[in-house]
Amino acid sequence: MERALDSKPLIPESRIQTRILEIAAQINQDYRGQDMVAVCILKGSFIFFCDLIRHIEVPLTCEFLGLSSYGKQTVTSGEVKVTLDLTEPIEGKNVLVFEDIVDSGLTLDFILKTLRARRPASLRVCSLLFKPGRLRAPVDVDYIGFRIGDEFVVGYGLDYAEKYRGLPYIGQLQSEH
Ligand code: PRP
Repeated sequence: MERALDSKPLIPESRIQTRILEIAAQINQDYRGQDMVAVCILKGSFIFFCDLIRHIEVPLTCEFLGLSSYGKQTVTSGEVKVTLDLTEPIEGKNVLVFEDIVDSGLTLDFILKTLRARRPASLRVCSLLFKPGRLRAPVDVDYIGFRIGDEFVVGYGLDYAEKYRGLPYIGQLQSEH
């Protein structure tokens, strides 16, 4: 059955934008004097990535890594597929991965293993949302926007069956009855 969008935002637009400024300030401090390859994980991270990198003051290049594991399901299949790879080698570079959400952590685990094999100088992760209660893989997230519970969230890049990505806030789907 189709799940409806709850009318009340879980995280309003203003809170997201305020948190983005705080994370960007932390990244600017941590990477001072260095440059970085900013990797946007498609599709879900595209809006977070665009908003955040506009506040990063160190020199950066942008790369896009397309991955998918959920399809039309609300629970991960656990099988991650690469739909688009990076265009440049990252060996010896400082790589910062931007995710919209770390849920089971299986996607991030796959990302970290894949990118680590390419021997970057450093590899860190920035995720807008993190569900600590649902981790199924031992992954570390260096910069976290918001820790959330078990809600199925949509908007601000995140989808449900490809819908809702354009919402300017994080909303949640009503639970199934
Ligand atoms: C979502 C999200 C993360 C991943 C997190 O991607 O963008 O990459 O799931 O879930 P996990 O921690 O349980 O692995 P999805 O596969 O839905 O693709 P999309 O970004 O194209 O929507």
